[in-house]
Amino acid sequence: MKENHEVYIKQLTAGYPGKPGIIRQLTTRSLQPGTITALAGPNAAGKSTLLKSIAGLIPARGEIMIGQQNILHFPMLKKAKLISYMPQYLPFDISLSVVESLVASLKASPLDQISAKLPEVEKRAFDLLEEMDIMHLATEAVNRLSGGQRQLVSLAQAIIRVPEILLLDEPTSALDLQHQVTVMRWIKNYARRGKIILIVLHDINMALRWADEAILLHNGRVYLHDKPGAVFTKEALKEVYHVNADIEATASGHLQVIVKD
Ligand SMILES: Nc1ncnc2c1ncn2[C@@H]1O[C@H](COP(=O)(O)OP(=O)(O)OP(=O)(O)O)[C@@H](O)[C@H]1O
Ligand SMILES: [Mg+2]
Repeated sequence: MKENHEVYIKQLTAGYPGKPGIIRQLTTRSLQPGTITALAGPNAAGKSTLLKSIAGLIPARGEIMIGQQNILHFPMLKKAKLISYMPQYLPFDISLSVVESLVASLKASPLDQISAKLPEVEKRAFDLLEEMDIMHLATEAVNRLSGGQRQLVSLAQAIIRVPEILLLDEPTSALDLQHQVTVMRWIKNYARRGKIILIVLHDINMALRWADEAILLHNGRVYLHDKPGAVFTKEALKEVYHVNADIEATASGHLQVIVKD
């Protein structure tokens, strides 16, 4: 697979048994390598469903084009080489240590030959923990971590395969203020390596602060897809969230939502 291709989603329809059209004929603008796209929208709008359909975890129809290829038709292993997905809910009921869980994530993927050798896989896991500043968690059991620690480890699990496309479902929802900033800075740096990031964020101010583009999802469709400042307008927040808000520029030049209700 060639790297650094933009991605287009065209006429994508996805859902669940008995609920086939949660995502309906969804088309986006291109997602560019090197950028973060925030995915926002009310509860049950279909954000997680969209991510799961891109990751190939639920059946979908339509096109997810990377270059000239529709990745919807890729076999699972080929897709796993390209895309990593961090779920909204973290299934950590196994008693592996953090570093063991990273090794497992790496070995579960169809990786290059190097990673088949345990010492090198472990080194990669330790290097990532160091890079993410969570080396102190290396030998902790994942099922005994705090909510925020689990989220950091889950992000590490998604990133360790160095995917071209990184799908993150509310990766900062359990993080304290400091970790929100460090994680978003980390994600931004990762994007700048030519990767495509699609990240579900409920916090509009975070989307305004960190994302290059934003998709506002409403009832399984794209309501707006544009620069964050053009998506999160007073009118859109009223229409989609039924909230009266002003959008103001902060002293540092960022836009900020002030809810008036
Ligand atoms: N496994 C499932 N089986 C059946 N229906 C599902 C399943 N998961 C989600 N749904 C339904 O799909 C719709 C969209 O859910 P989804 O999880 O994509 O919303 P979301 O935008 O991620 O919401 P939230 O902000 O609450 O996480 C909801 O009506 C939900 O009930
Ligand atoms: Mg969700």
